[in-house]
Amino acid sequence: MTKIAFIGGGNMASAILGGLIENGYDSKNILVSDPSAEKLAELKNQFSVQTFTDNNEAVAQADVVILAVKPQVMQRVISPLTEALTTKQPLVISVAAGISLESLADWTDSSLAIVRCMPNTPALVQQGASGLLANAQVSEAHKQLTDDILKAVGLNVWVENESQLDAVTALSGSGPAYFFLFIESMIAAGEKLGLASETAKTLALQTALGAATMASKSEHEPAQLRKNVTSPNGTTEQAILTFQKMGIEDMVEQAMKAAFDRSIELSKELGK
Ligand SMILES: NC(=O)c1ccc[n+]([C@@H]2O[C@H](COP(=O)([O-])OP(=O)(O)OC[C@H]3O[C@@H](n4cnc5c(N)ncnc54)[C@H](OP(=O)(O)O)[C@@H]3O)[C@@H](O)[C@H]2O)c1
Repeated sequence: MTKIAFIGGGNMASAILGGLIENGYDSKNILVSDPSAEKLAELKNQFSVQTFTDNNEAVAQADVVILAVKPQVMQRVISPLTEALTTKQPLVISVAAGISLESLADWTDSSLAIVRCMPNTPALVQQGASGLLANAQVSEAHKQLTDDILKAVGLNVWVENESQLDAVTALSGSGPAYFFLFIESMIAAGEKLGLASETAKTLALQTALGAATMASKSEHEPAQLRKNVTSPNGTTEQAILTFQKMGIEDMVEQAMKAAFDRSIELSKELGK
């Protein structure tokens, strides 16, 4: 079975390896390296994975290396792994936000097969949406392996270039916060209309979950589903007209463009 080494044993690594084990992956083939003995003991205790404090030792045994450290420390963490990576030639998957394939190759070895993954926070509850980008060394078999691993925390889509990954960052990467903001606003507005705070929260959350489930299961586009529930002269129509009059489409477009621009800026800063 494929041996998967996680460099960094924090939130994202725990989510992916937890999902893998839940789906039946043998924990003996999962290796985790992290400087914190306490974190490693916890992971070993909870998931029975193999643990290391020396990243090189983990890489030396791995067929797949998942880089799950913070972007700010990535260069410092992976440069010393270059020799082990060059010798073993594993598939490298980075989940770090804002670190380009070019930077990852520059900091290690340009002959490596590297996948850059842009996950989002719902990966922590196995409901993530990730964008994936491969370098030229990544084969179809590598892509299949990447999909098989990352589906443990949600859904994946492959994109063609770094710019599309910046768009993924603006859409699904930052997207959960847009929905949290919308839910917050609905709760506050519900309270102003006389509902108890808990009641407004329960209804807003279930409505978001119900709408997302319905839209993902339906054969109809979201626009059609909206039209289906917007009867002429009804209550929904009044709300939708108000949103549109206040420019919701333009607001969303501008917000996502701002996130996209910031993603490009951050990649430049982190890639230095
Ligand atoms: N969490 C999310 O929802 C999310 C979403 C999208 C992308 N990501 C990406 O996922 C990556 C990990 O994020 P996270 O939230 O999992 O962070 P995290 O919980 O801080 O995990 C990072 C882990 O790496 C460890 N580490 C630090 N230096 C190391 C070294 N030299 N060798 C090995 N491990 C080292 C850290 O240990 P210490 O704590 O002791 O420093 C920590 O346990 C980030 O690059 C982030 O951009 C996360």
